[in-house]
Amino acid sequence: MTQDRAKQNLWLHFTRMSSYARGEVPVIVRGSGPYVFDQNGKRYLDGLSGLFVSQIGHGRREVAEAGARQGSELAYFPLWSYAHPRAVELAQRLADLAPGDLNQVFFTTSGSEAVESAWKLAKQYFKIIGEPGRYKVISRDIAYHGTSMGALAITGLPAIKEPFEPLTPGGVRVPNTNFYRAPSFVAGDQTAFGRWAADEIERAILREGPASVAAVYLEPVQNSGGCFPPPPGYFQRVREICDRYGVLLVSDEVICAFGRLGHYFGAQRYGYQPDIITFAKGVTSGYAPLGGMLVSDRLMEPFVEGTATFLHGITFAGHPVSCAVALANLDVFEKEDLLGNVRAQEAGFRATLEKLGDLPIVGDVRGDGYFYGIELVKDKATRQTFNDDESERLLRGFLSTALFDAGLICRADDRGDPVIQLSPPLTCGQEHFDEIEQILRSVLTQAWARL
Ligand SMILES: Cc1ncc(COP(=O)(O)O)c(C=O)c1O
Repeated sequence: MTQDRAKQNLWLHFTRMSSYARGEVPVIVRGSGPYVFDQNGKRYLDGLSGLFVSQIGHGRREVAEAGARQGSELAYFPLWSYAHPRAVELAQRLADLAPGDLNQVFFTTSGSEAVESAWKLAKQYFKIIGEPGRYKVISRDIAYHGTSMGALAITGLPAIKEPFEPLTPGGVRVPNTNFYRAPSFVAGDQTAFGRWAADEIERAILREGPASVAAVYLEPVQNSGGCFPPPPGYFQRVREICDRYGVLLVSDEVICAFGRLGHYFGAQRYGYQPDIITFAKGVTSGYAPLGGMLVSDRLMEPFVEGTATFLHGITFAGHPVSCAVALANLDVFEKEDLLGNVRAQEAGFRATLEKLGDLPIVGDVRGDGYFYGIELVKDKATRQTFNDDESERLLRGFLSTALFDAGLICRADDRGDPVIQLSPPLTCGQEHFDEIEQILRSVLTQAWARL
């Protein structure tokens, strides 16, 4: 019944609907800890936290109940001209957790809206302070920053942009920090590579004209392409460059915040100070939708006097139920020391995944915290990747289904070179890492045999 209705009425996101013409639509009906269960009762290890969301794991009654209580007390009121207690409490709590002077919280309902809100803020801020020419935004190749029209202009994935052209003007691309595929003149030297990649941002600013550039958007660890951590010194250099040209540094932490890297914010792990942090996903662990941006006091300053108003708002942003849920989610982080768990166990996670390096198809294992990408290659020695046809057969024709059938939810992705992405709940430990490794080993071995 559910199957038929799903096929008739439900349009899945970023999904080839034709692929379910013959097969079943997977229907996930409940979750418990790091596991979810489908309609047939089969159990899966949620190695992706849904979609980089479920930091505290599934089935937490106290978090769900916090939402229900709030719904009975005050289900909805807007943040347009009014405040409500949970938004105030959450804003204060986030400001306390955030680095430096990021004390102003502007809520949204999603990551795309957070990314887009930060761009709108940057544009209006520069107009108010007398630098009206600044509207461009620099971001990195293959980086994903969301799908709404503004966010899409910042996203660096040509294939998902092309159908929607012309896009919002102003998106400029620079190289990412994929060290495995570093240009030969900096290959093998992380520091030189990081310096080069950061300096490419300066070159882009100069090429575009510094007076036209508003912001640089970077994830602490770039997700799309398969987890590119920053090389040593990269963010420090980027910060210097942004300061030199008066450009805002936006740390897009929609994935990396809330413990994914063992800190509340990725910027804290890598020791840099952004002007804006965008967040979503893990702030509620998915028990209700919420996003937002944390903004430095300095950027708010022109908006606190006279008639100045940030001309932007979203009906459901900072929804009371979502804010109550976020507060309860952060309580779980504290009670269970989830950041401590990630920091204590991340070396074990890395070591377990690195065992897969003995497979001929595994080219690179990279990431930090509980956030890893495994790059698949055709030839390990030369790092040769798969052509489009092989990639299609490997990822869509085999791996995605085989991993799911084997009981592991992760992501086989070819938005850059083919990778498998992992981002388990922060409650996971060695037994879950072993389970992930064993399933991957078995499925990747079969994949190699089929090539
Ligand atoms: C870094 C980053 N920014 C923005 C977004 C967009 O978030 P949302 O899907 O909530 O709009 C995502 C989503 O995965 C993301 O990873």
